[in-house]
Amino acid sequence: MTKVLFVKGNPKSTEQSYSLRLGQSFVDVYAAENPGAQVTELDLYESNIPLIDAEVMTAWGKLAQQSELSHHEAAKVLRLGELVDQFLDSDVIVFAAPMWNFGYPPMVKAYMDAIAVAGKTFQYTATGPVGLAVGKKAFITEARGGVWSAGPMVSMEHSQSHLRAFLGFLGVTDVQVLLAEGLNFDPSKGEEILAEAVARAQQAAKAQPVAATV
Ligand SMILES: Cc1cc2nc3c(=O)[nH]c(=O)nc-3n(C[C@H](O)[C@H](O)[C@H](O)COP(=O)(O)O)c2cc1C
Repeated sequence: MTKVLFVKGNPKSTEQSYSLRLGQSFVDVYAAENPGAQVTELDLYESNIPLIDAEVMTAWGKLAQQSELSHHEAAKVLRLGELVDQFLDSDVIVFAAPMWNFGYPPMVKAYMDAIAVAGKTFQYTATGPVGLAVGKKAFITEARGGVWSAGPMVSMEHSQSHLRAFLGFLGVTDVQVLLAEGLNFDPSKGEEILAEAVARAQQAAKAQPVAATV
């Protein structure tokens, strides 16, 4: 059974969000094409995603010294561990997020911080870092007010390029990016741009090999 993790990085409801609608359109077609797939949603704005804060830092220090964690520290470390396990247990990860100030909303970064764990998702070796989360596929569905995939502003794009590089560092090198761009240039064209992006996303979902149902 193919396990699909749908990571939603937007505080909006799906109905109000281009990126979430784009991501959902991909996931719906993927699931329809792969009846054996099991889709799990992770809404980064509704779930408990601990930030790497002073409590977590203290907890890590205590763990290294084998000393006892406070209740709060233990709860955060446990939840971070659950997020890593969930990521590692997934075969396909679908991200949906808007571009915010050239990158992604902060909860996407919080999620990246949560799943980058030496010894679990990557490791350093004598010859450099090695990703341990191999054999997965990722899809990044993203909405942007402007156009950053071509033209003079390309170097200011730090959303998909950051997430793609990060996933590669973890060993996820099979990454496909599906964009809806220029949504704010002329708001009356928003639905048209989204429809074109949705068609591309659905095509990409159909192009995936059908997963075994057992
Ligand atoms: C806080 C904030 C920052 C934004 N920064 C950018 C940006 O840097 N580049 C861009 O093209 N659009 C930017 N936008 C516009 C959104 O990317 C655009 O409206 C997108 O369609 C939102 O997707 P959504 O409907 O899924 O939320 C920003 C929007 C917000 C709310």
